Amino acid sequence: MAKTACTVPTTQIILDEEIYPRSGVYPKRVSMFAENMRDGFKIDPVEVQIHPEYDDKYRILDGAHRWHAYKEIGATEISVLIITLDGVDPILYAAKKAIGPLQLTEDEARTTARRAYENNPRLISFEIGQAIGRSRQAVDAYIADLRASTQMELDLKIFRLHRLGLPQERIANRFNIPQRTLSDHLAKMPSLAIPLNTDLLKGFTVPQVAEKHGWTEPMVWSLSLKGKDDLERFKELNWGLRTWDLWNWNDCDKRFGDDWPGRIPAQMIAHILYYFSDQNDLVFDPMAGGGVVADTCLAFNRKCWSFDMDDRPDTRPEIEPCFWDITNLKWPIKGKTKPDLIIFDPPYFKKQSNNYDPDGISGMSKANYLKFLESFFALAHLNAKKSTQMALINADWRDFQNIPAKNETRVNSILINDYLWILNQSGWQETHIFQAPLSSERFKANVVSAMQKKKIIGVPSRYVIISKKKPNQD
Ligand SMILES: C[S@@+](CC[C@H](N)C(=O)[O-])C[C@H]1O[C@@H](n2cnc3c(N)ncnc32)[C@H](O)[C@@H]1O
Repeated sequence: MAKTACTVPTTQIILDEEIYPRSGVYPKRVSMFAENMRDGFKIDPVEVQIHPEYDDKYRILDGAHRWHAYKEIGATEISVLIITLDGVDPILYAAKKAIGPLQLTEDEARTTARRAYENNPRLISFEIGQAIGRSRQAVDAYIADLRASTQMELDLKIFRLHRLGLPQERIANRFNIPQRTLSDHLAKMPSLAIPLNTDLLKGFTVPQVAEKHGWTEPMVWSLSLKGKDDLERFKELNWGLRTWDLWNWNDCDKRFGDDWPGRIPAQMIAHILYYFSDQNDLVFDPMAGGGVVADTCLAFNRKCWSFDMDDRPDTRPEIEPCFWDITNLKWPIKGKTKPDLIIFDPPYFKKQSNNYDPDGISGMSKANYLKFLESFFALAHLNAKKSTQMALINADWRDFQNIPAKNETRVNSILINDYLWILNQSGWQETHIFQAPLSSERFKANVVSAMQKKKIIGVPSRYVIISKKKPNQD
């Protein structure tokens, strides 16, 4: 832990309630310090750390009374020790310092223990107890309810990853827990579902049960549709099944996937699953975004391994962090298991690029974007089985903004034949092309009329290209 002594302006120091373990300051103690300062006594420096949110401010770790006394005597500068905590919890550090001169009251100890645990549920009771001057048992009692709900949340997340078929080693790794602890959690799984199944049997709806028990809706669908075949699942979800190679929907079904740039309808995923996979098959989603593929797989009893450069461990732990790096492209998992179906929904070149991380593939030039796809398809080919199918979801990229159709060129565009050519170059062969257009109703009438006047052709089209490995290319 590094300490730097210096003086800083009083106005740059903040008393942050979030980490201050006392319920207030004691005026008598402030007056005592002020008197000592006026009499010229040497006072210990106030301990501060750089404020995590405002880097021109410091927050007090120890010395709130001294700081008040400095202000009382009109000091404009204060001697401080700037502490770098190196992973030590600031709440616990501040509490440990506070109990030196005076123990915390019961209320202060309880509030500090709860705050520390809420900030970091990995803290153990003994550690918290040492900092606040209480026994491990006392801390256990202070935080019992918080710990129970954290455990419940963790149980549910583990259940979700387990249902999606992630191997135990990867689940343990994702939650940073030992495999032994994971086995204890997994043993609880069958009993976790009992109260939900009881409510479903009583006739409560899936959203009601999800809300009551704090589960996600797709997880409750996975329980309520258990044992049903795919056609029954379509019916229960109220989705009509398309029989032709035209798959169009007015909107995304909000029950599946997060609100995400470039979100695709769960109905489209369900159709890919229905026609090109069987129950219990393993689906691989390399650029998972808002998680619509994983959610739909839960409802259709498929396993699903998802990856994305955008890591959201709290809300989407099933999407494992993975940056597909064009300079060093690697398959993110080891082991012999190969997917039955790859559902690949990359950014459609520059479309939505303002909403994606610029390091991702939408930040690339046209040449690099196409090179990336070619390398990715070749890598996927290497890591696929003979029977693996790949669904590539994409759309034509045309440079059509403000350009009348007859003046458009091919310099900047990427069209379906480019994708087909790259697929073929990397060992894949298309078997189906589905047209899955966005509804053109979402375009505003005045925009449409302006486009018509200028003879501009818009792009609501989107394709799902299904491919197989070329024969003798396994
Ligand atoms: C079209 S979105 C996927 C949307 C998703 N299917 C849905 O409906 O929510 C494409 C995703 O690719 C991810 N991505 C782009 N470049 C990437 C890279 N090089 N490595 C990993 N992920 C990348 C982005 O973070 C984005 O979430």
